[in-house]
Amino acid sequence: MRLPNQKLSRNVTLINLLVSAAALLLACAAFVGYDQISFRRSMVSEVSVRAQIIASNSVSAILFNDATSARSTLSALSASADVMWAGICTAQGKSFALYQRTGTDRVPALPSIAPGQMQSVLFGNGDIVLARAIIFRGRSLGTVYVESDLSTIAQRRKEYAAIALAVLLASMVAALLVSWLFAKSVADPIVGLAALTRDITEHKDYSARAIPTGRNDEVTLLIGSFNDMLGQIERRDRALREARADLERRVEERTAQLTHANKELESFSYSVSHDLRAPLRSIDGFSQALLEDYDAKLDAAGKDYLRRIRASAQRMGVLIDDLLNLGRVSRATIQKEKVDATALAESIAADLRRAQPGREVEFRIEKGMEAWADPGLLRIVLDNLLNNAWKFTSKRGHASIEFGLRRDNGGPACYFVRDNGAGFDPKYADRLFGAFQRLHAMTDFAGTGVGLATVQRIITRHGGSVWAESAVDQGAVFYFTL
Ligand SMILES: Nc1ncnc2c1ncn2[C@@H]1O[C@H](COP(=O)(O)OP(=O)(O)OP(=O)(O)O)[C@@H](O)[C@H]1O
Ligand SMILES: [Mg+2]
Repeated sequence: MRLPNQKLSRNVTLINLLVSAAALLLACAAFVGYDQISFRRSMVSEVSVRAQIIASNSVSAILFNDATSARSTLSALSASADVMWAGICTAQGKSFALYQRTGTDRVPALPSIAPGQMQSVLFGNGDIVLARAIIFRGRSLGTVYVESDLSTIAQRRKEYAAIALAVLLASMVAALLVSWLFAKSVADPIVGLAALTRDITEHKDYSARAIPTGRNDEVTLLIGSFNDMLGQIERRDRALREARADLERRVEERTAQLTHANKELESFSYSVSHDLRAPLRSIDGFSQALLEDYDAKLDAAGKDYLRRIRASAQRMGVLIDDLLNLGRVSRATIQKEKVDATALAESIAADLRRAQPGREVEFRIEKGMEAWADPGLLRIVLDNLLNNAWKFTSKRGHASIEFGLRRDNGGPACYFVRDNGAGFDPKYADRLFGAFQRLHAMTDFAGTGVGLATVQRIITRHGGSVWAESAVDQGAVFYFTL
């Protein structure tokens, strides 16, 4: 994988180039500036010395009005290549003698000497003109003017610029070389480290390692620490994976054990319940035979005992039937299909009315309710819930039972059976769904306590849940989803 094209080394190169270029330009500027100033200064003092010599050599020429001698003094300036023009003026300002390098009559702009001063300098465009007073015994005899050419300064400037450019180019090349070396030794390992980090983040492969540079510096330390960190993460990751795999294996084992134990228990209770029926039938049958065949020989107490034996045997038969049903529900294969829940509830309600036509019960069953469930098992669920509602409203003058569907936004369809019967203490709402758990006395409301356990098993097998809300004497609501 390529990083954003080795930005680090490119940036370092750029910074190197900029810094060296800036430093060099500054140094050149300072050096050229200083050179110009000192060169001008030395020019002025050179011209001044010449003017001074001419001034002292021309004193006698002025005193004796010997212009030829003055001109000859001036002509000595021809030895200095930079002197363009020179002249001597008398104290009255009259031109006394002249010297010109070229044959022209050109006279440069001349500076005037301030009172009390010995000389004055005027810088022109490409030349310098110096005026020097000629003094003899404290008296001014005139002035010497010397014009010197400054084209050497411009020449020097050009030479400096060329040298600065050459040095600049050379230092750029050197900076590039330094950057390249830096990239090799520092930037490359860091760029590689960054690439590796990104790679690991993407692919979560903690077995990858950064390659050490082999040198003894901070980059090596960084790479070493990074590799150590990767090692730790890798070990932890492996330990975590192993722990998870171990946990999964254990859960699987336990689930298999539990499923096996559950199956054994179910088939055991099924065969026990089944096998109990035959002796029970014979207890009930022989009790009945006793009552019928030995009617004359038994007194009232004996007959009462026999009737009690029969009632208990029959109750036990119901219990066994319920247990068998519970086992059957657990084993039955579920075949889901679209079921008309409204019609199912209406038929159960009709059965209930037929069984106890004397009761005044108002049924309110929502129209058009459909469910995706096993029809046989859903009938058992509704049968239990509506039977309970019917039973626990039996002491109400006006009983009302409602079966409807509540759709909470987004959630699964939630069916409910509501009644205005005896209700129960909500503290025990969870307990109701255990087998043989009853909250009401047998004398108040008959039952074995297996109904809701059966309901819960069916609902759980459908992947839904069932729960109840109630208060003593306030009726009860049973909710279930599928
Ligand atoms: N609609 C209800 N109103 C009040 N209490 C209820 C209602 N439904 C169930 N219960 C309480 O929950 C207990 C368990 O109900 P469940 O249906 O399992 O047993 P049961 O009705 O007593 O007997 P059966 O096995 O014949 O159904 C009941 O005994 C009763 O105390
Ligand atoms: Mg019941």
